Amino acid sequence: MEKKIPITIDGREVEAAAGQMILEAARENGIFIPTLCHYPGTTKVGACRVCVVDVEGARSLVASCCMPVSPGMVVRTDTKKVRDAQRLIVELLWASGDHNCLTCEQNGNCDLQNLVYWLELETPRFSIQFPKYKPETTNTMISRDLNKCILCGRCIRACNEIQVNEVLDFSKRGSRAKVGPAFDADYIDSECFFCGECADVCPVGAITFRQSRFKGRPWEMQKVKTTCTYCGVGCQMDLNINNGKIVKVTGNRDYAQPNGGSLCIKGRFGLDFVNNPDRLKKPLIRKEKGGELTEASWDEALELIAKKFGEIKKKDGADSIAGLSSARCTNEENYLFQKFMRAVVGTNNVDHCARL
Ligand code: FES
Repeated sequence: MEKKIPITIDGREVEAAAGQMILEAARENGIFIPTLCHYPGTTKVGACRVCVVDVEGARSLVASCCMPVSPGMVVRTDTKKVRDAQRLIVELLWASGDHNCLTCEQNGNCDLQNLVYWLELETPRFSIQFPKYKPETTNTMISRDLNKCILCGRCIRACNEIQVNEVLDFSKRGSRAKVGPAFDADYIDSECFFCGECADVCPVGAITFRQSRFKGRPWEMQKVKTTCTYCGVGCQMDLNINNGKIVKVTGNRDYAQPNGGSLCIKGRFGLDFVNNPDRLKKPLIRKEKGGELTEASWDEALELIAKKFGEIKKKDGADSIAGLSSARCTNEENYLFQKFMRAVVGTNNVDHCARL
């Protein structure tokens, strides 16, 4: 049986699992502690210190995200000392970035913005000074504005530990520290796979999805859970829909299997075909050699295919025909397809796009 450790948080006696961090124990018991750099499933780095708490007997405030519980520990999450420290940290972050919510894509979905509001801050005590980096818009999928970066490192850990792409890291030191691919390259000139994990985990507006820029605010999006149709893995994802159109695709960590909220470039960004005016919705037939493709009914198209298949089979044999099916079909449809190829056409030449 799992060993339980009794601790007290804000006067409440709770039980924590051995090895659990204070933050996790508090969250499990419905006690709110703010975080910025913490991201479940990645290394605990204790970089931002926003999660500080008062632990009886400790020399100073401790970061709850990386302090394990111990028997009899007495923790307070809401003392004046804790709030003063959180206010100072948030004000410093606010003052050192270009956090202009009016134009920020993350407005309404920003952890820093939420913290400023939660701590009831009107304005930072410090003058706002940020490095004036040129925002990166050199690819069509991900925008980066490092003037908004709070150096929490979530993107780096997501890139290295969740997707294991190992593209992002910190470079330089102190006030010149920044996050990005090797040699400070733009994403498009780097080894980036464009999985979009960095944008998904960014707590502020530093890394955002370029495709959805100006296409809808977070509160306008209707989220629809679906299964990615690109391959046979069956990744779960949320379509973000505004005005009846898919605006972006986000992962959802609540859907544990099979992808745990992560997506690849196709699932994440390959969505423009859905509303593309060139998308084929009816069969097209070229009635004369070299002529134009014209719309036809399904009966007409299927009749033509059957006739052509018959002619090919008669002339060159059934093995001159091959069938390629799709991961977008259901198992039942794929079963029927292979059955059709084997039993009706008479060939074993059957393959599937998910295997390629
Ligand atoms: Fe704990 Fe950042 S959330 S140090």
